Amino acid sequence: MNSTRKLNIVLLLVFLASLGLNWAARRDPTQPNREPLPEMVRTPRYNAFAPNPNFADGKTLQPPVPGTIPRGYLPLHYTAAKEDALRAGEELQNPLASADAGAAQRGAFVFTNFCLECHGAAGRGDGPVTLRGFPAPPSLLAERALNMKDGQMFHVLTYGQGNMPSYAAQLSREDRWKAILFVRSLQKQAAARTAGGKP
Ligand code: HEC
Repeated sequence: MNSTRKLNIVLLLVFLASLGLNWAARRDPTQPNREPLPEMVRTPRYNAFAPNPNFADGKTLQPPVPGTIPRGYLPLHYTAAKEDALRAGEELQNPLASADAGAAQRGAFVFTNFCLECHGAAGRGDGPVTLRGFPAPPSLLAERALNMKDGQMFHVLTYGQGNMPSYAAQLSREDRWKAILFVRSLQKQAAARTAGGKP
């Protein structure tokens, strides 16, 4: 037997052996394929309210770390107390100017939808709810509101004052400042009317 023939026989045997191996290790199509480290591909997850042995308190939902600030949210360091309303008046300034036409327009929209029912279209404290027994708010054109700083008004809208509830949940911070712009424009209009001799 020459060596080429021997080699051919060896190659044939190797081929047949590989066929045999292929048959022996064939995959069962009814079973999922073998997967190394499947948890690296699909991380096991816990449902929000499921018990979780990985945390000391055994819960999946973890409270945020104290002092956590939600994205896009700036903390306000005030309480609903009167002193804090006055402090807000000293510390906070309206970041928007009435020259900003978009802000002024939005302020008018916010006032009409969220303030007018109590404060009245001109801010005189004669909104429609006062006809139905709701205690009339003071006029926004009166001395107190004229002298009230923007920051304190912001505090009123954010924390409420007396019979006026907080509007923090209904109005974004920006919208509250815009409503204040509109209150100022009502006051200016009233002052211009008085200066023109009309009450
Ligand atoms: C549910 C009725 C109601 C709505 C709505 C309302 N207010 Fe008031 N507001 C009041 C009442 C009542 C007061 C007086 C509170 C008190 O001191 O007893 C008041 C007080 C105020 C004050 C302080 C006035 C002062 O002289 O102390 C401002 C400023 C003010 N509101 C602005 C607004 C703006 C701006 C909105 C709209 C975002 C609004 N309010 C929505 C009822 C309302």
